[in-house]
Amino acid sequence: TRPQLFDNHGRPIQYLRLAVTDRCNLRCFYCMPEEGIAYLPKKQLLTYEEMLRISSVLAELGVRKVRITGGEPFVRHDLTAFLRELSGINGISEIAITTNGVLTGAYLADLKAIGVRTVNLSLDTLDRERFRAITRRDEFLKVQKCLYDLLDAGFEVKINTVVMEGRNTEDILPLARLTQQYPVSVRFIEEMPFNGEGSHYPVLNWTYPRILQELKEAFPGLQKVVDPANSTAYHYQVPGFAGHLGIIAAFTRTFCGTCNRIRLTAQGVLKTCLYDDGVLNVRDLLRSGISDQALRQEFVHAFRHRPKDGFEAERNRHSLITESMTTIGG
Ligand code: GTP
Ligand code: 5AD
Ligand code: SF4
Repeated sequence: TRPQLFDNHGRPIQYLRLAVTDRCNLRCFYCMPEEGIAYLPKKQLLTYEEMLRISSVLAELGVRKVRITGGEPFVRHDLTAFLRELSGINGISEIAITTNGVLTGAYLADLKAIGVRTVNLSLDTLDRERFRAITRRDEFLKVQKCLYDLLDAGFEVKINTVVMEGRNTEDILPLARLTQQYPVSVRFIEEMPFNGEGSHYPVLNWTYPRILQELKEAFPGLQKVVDPANSTAYHYQVPGFAGHLGIIAAFTRTFCGTCNRIRLTAQGVLKTCLYDDGVLNVRDLLRSGISDQALRQEFVHAFRHRPKDGFEAERNRHSLITESMTTIGG
């Protein structure tokens, strides 16, 4: 077993969220403006070689789970070849992906072969028209097929649904009913203010208690089930149903106390908290010829200076947030 690095608040750093691109083939209004964001020139993005090197140094410090995010991971070329190499890194025992499912379907056999067991699918509605209104693209049928193909292929599937007043609240129950027949985890997410357009914290109508109430009214037998360690979601189940329901209170609650995750943006900036502006430009260090050992020291330093509760600090700042979810990888 590998040594485990803990941060300055005693939290183990085990989970890397790696954004492999800032690009996306959808334009979800809560994530990106219609015209897209100014994509980074390719030279500014980490290469796969750089990502592999960073991942193996992080694995030496105790990171064991890597979640591939974006943007949309599958818009980057040769993703599965990269994943195969990533899976070979000593210490990385779990590779997971968060994807919108538009291009994913073509790679299921590859993912299986590489050992990817879990896929989180972003899907806010089961209605083609509402899908188009939310994502500004008419790709629902591909995503729907991807969902059923993932289930057929035996992946552990989590559906991520951002709940939005006036957009998809009528989808809550149809999505929840998927758990009757399918061993899928449907997770309803409070909307966070990261749409890339600059917005202050809004008043959120569909908070965790309201979503829970909606589920309880439809499924009176709904039961709380034990949450996996470090989970972002509170889990529930309707007795007899094959799958689970989850609520991710991304806006009203803090996960900071048990946060075991760090982030690497597509341009190679390390974030030790969702709400920091980036604490280390790893790309520039690599390109200036840093040794693995010196890089390890940089990481150790960064992990020893993590904020205790970045969420609380952010809320107290009441700052204007102009960042897009697609550059920070969720
Ligand atoms: P699992 O590894 O399957 O537990 O998934 P995950 O919830 O860690 O990742 P996923 O990419 O599926 O993200 C689900 C939702 O949780 C998204 O809306 C994320 O933006 C949100 N989320 C992930 N990490 C954090 C975090 O550290 N803080 C907050 N507030 N939200 C987060
Ligand atoms: N608020 C909450 N969740 C969001 N996601 C993207 N933008 C937001 C937002 N503003 C979710 C996507 C995806 C995950 C990585 O983050 O639905 O499933
Ligand atoms: Fe793309 Fe995901 Fe952002 Fe939608 S939420 S625009 S699918 S990165």
